[in-house]
Amino acid sequence: MVQRKDEMKVGIVGLGFVGLVTAIALADKGNNVKCIDVDKEKIEKLKMDTLYIYEPGLRELFIRNKSRMTFITDYDKLQRNDVTFICVPTPTVTGKIDLSYVNEAVDSVVSSDQDTVIVIKSTVVPGTASGLSTKMNKDIISNPEFLREGTAINDTMQPNRIVIGGKNKNDVGLVEEVWRFTGAPVLKTTNENAELIKYASNAFLATKISFINEIANLCENIPGTDINTVAKGMGLDRRIGGEFLSAGIGYGGSCLPKDTKALVAFSKERNVKLRIISSAIKVNDERVDHVVRLIEKEMNGLGGKKICILGVSFKDNTNDIRESKALDMVRELERRKADVIAYDPVIRQVRGLNIVKDIQECSEASGIVIASEWKVFESNALYDKEKKVIDVKGIVDLKVHPKVRQIGMFYD
Ligand code: UGA
Repeated sequence: MVQRKDEMKVGIVGLGFVGLVTAIALADKGNNVKCIDVDKEKIEKLKMDTLYIYEPGLRELFIRNKSRMTFITDYDKLQRNDVTFICVPTPTVTGKIDLSYVNEAVDSVVSSDQDTVIVIKSTVVPGTASGLSTKMNKDIISNPEFLREGTAINDTMQPNRIVIGGKNKNDVGLVEEVWRFTGAPVLKTTNENAELIKYASNAFLATKISFINEIANLCENIPGTDINTVAKGMGLDRRIGGEFLSAGIGYGGSCLPKDTKALVAFSKERNVKLRIISSAIKVNDERVDHVVRLIEKEMNGLGGKKICILGVSFKDNTNDIRESKALDMVRELERRKADVIAYDPVIRQVRGLNIVKDIQECSEASGIVIASEWKVFESNALYDKEKKVIDVKGIVDLKVHPKVRQIGMFYD
């Protein structure tokens, strides 16, 4: 077993969501964490104690631990770290993964800190770490991330598993030591397996969501069925599990849409057809249109009608609007001539959209659409007024608010 030093020196490259949460969590566990990002504005904000992302509990954790964190923009100052995590983005550009940020980051770390153990946390296609290991003549470790926005601290501190891929036993052992505090089961494997585990996990979660969304479509055509009860009954089977079986407007965010597409493109290059994942993507792409048609039916047409959307982020407990299905829905409703306003618990501004400050301002709309799973949207006196309320996330208890209409239900 690798001996853990009391205080490890940890480098974090890329302070997006994963990088920042990882940095703060590792500082909280007593490590000295040096964080680098090429975005000077981000670094200045952090130096002034300002977080540019909303994540429950993260600011408090940051303030408690910032004495163990330093923020830099210059790679020359990224030196003498025991371990350095690469957390830069890997966007999908024209359907394919763009690895340029990862390549540049690894290159820069190797030049500035030759002895550090380099760990790729960014989501990368199988073969990336091995390819870079050969190019750099240095073993690179894979340690994919499984945290979700909105529950990121808990997912980092108490993950279901830690996956570590790599050849060099000492380096793998060091990364294992970094995460020992979590007490989570550790799977040590090849770089390629670790990289594929990440993609396969996200693709499976995406497929689970598209699967339940298709069953919801079926429920809408069978008297006596409702998707919430069907999902609950399925989820009680431990082999299936109840999580990620909530029907809605489809999966959004910066990960599931991008990773499913990247995996399909990667497989296509190897002449392997991923039919199930491709179908999950197609079902997801059609979701907003389907939901908007339901809203149109409930509202007896959309032209000139004022509709208030509750929640514009891609999910609850975040201010992230990347690939937000709620915003796709706004655009589709507007295309069909509805007059759309929105309310969100944390987002105050989205270009081109009128976001009201108080949920009560939605009372002037003739329809309310619950578009995000924020807890505060589960119940509101507005839902019992003489207006149409359509819950496209299936979060409202219909026994409490019987007038609310939901997706995945049969209506005459
Ligand atoms: C996802 C994965 O869940 C994480 O395990 C992974 O680490 C992360 O991507 C990543 O690759 O970095 P995230 O995108 O933060 O996490 O959020 P999710 O909780 O997965 O939600 C994704 C989307 O699916 C949201 O739009 C959410 O509303 C939707 N969703 C989720 C449903 O429509 N139904 C569900 O049952 C669950």
